[in-house]
Amino acid sequence: MNIERHLILIGFMGSGKSSVGRELAKILQQPFIDLDEYIEQQTGLTIANIFAQQGEDVFRQLETRFLKEVLKNPPHIVSTGGGTIISEENRRLMEASGYVVFLDAGWETLAERTASSCSRPLLYPSGKTAADKQFRHQKIKDLLNERRPFYERCHIKIITDNLSIHQAARKIIQQLLQTD
Ligand code: S3P
Repeated sequence: MNIERHLILIGFMGSGKSSVGRELAKILQQPFIDLDEYIEQQTGLTIANIFAQQGEDVFRQLETRFLKEVLKNPPHIVSTGGGTIISEENRRLMEASGYVVFLDAGWETLAERTASSCSRPLLYPSGKTAADKQFRHQKIKDLLNERRPFYERCHIKIITDNLSIHQAARKIIQQLLQTD
């Protein structure tokens, strides 16, 4: 299947943007870019290092700069970072150049899927104590509430709680065919 515009995956950390994006690219035989990986390649730094050494504001500036660059390519499957949608400029860029696909999931699912991740600075401390866990759960709930209105501004929404990566990718393709 040929895509005429970018297919841009948005959603909270742990929603499956990168894995579903890769699977979609494989099924549709289209090129794939993961925005976080692209930022890491271009800067030579990990996302965690950028946050630690330069702070979130600098990360957000880099995110916009490299999102623009990525969207200048011919149509790709693009997975974004969980916070890419908090910038109005980013939202406009994405809406103007592609189909925006929101991978949704409940906070419990997101907490479970991100539980063993230690590369997400917004979910630090990543420890296993009850206090660390409680802090992370509250952070996920708060950020999700804050961001939900922006995620909902999408062309297609898929609820992924009970879907495998392959099933989520298939569902996106089904919905894309229906919107044609
Ligand atoms: C962020 C999500 C991360 C990464 C950065 C900030 C966020 O990407 O961009 O740590 O603000 O939600 P993933 O959603 O791929 O984890």
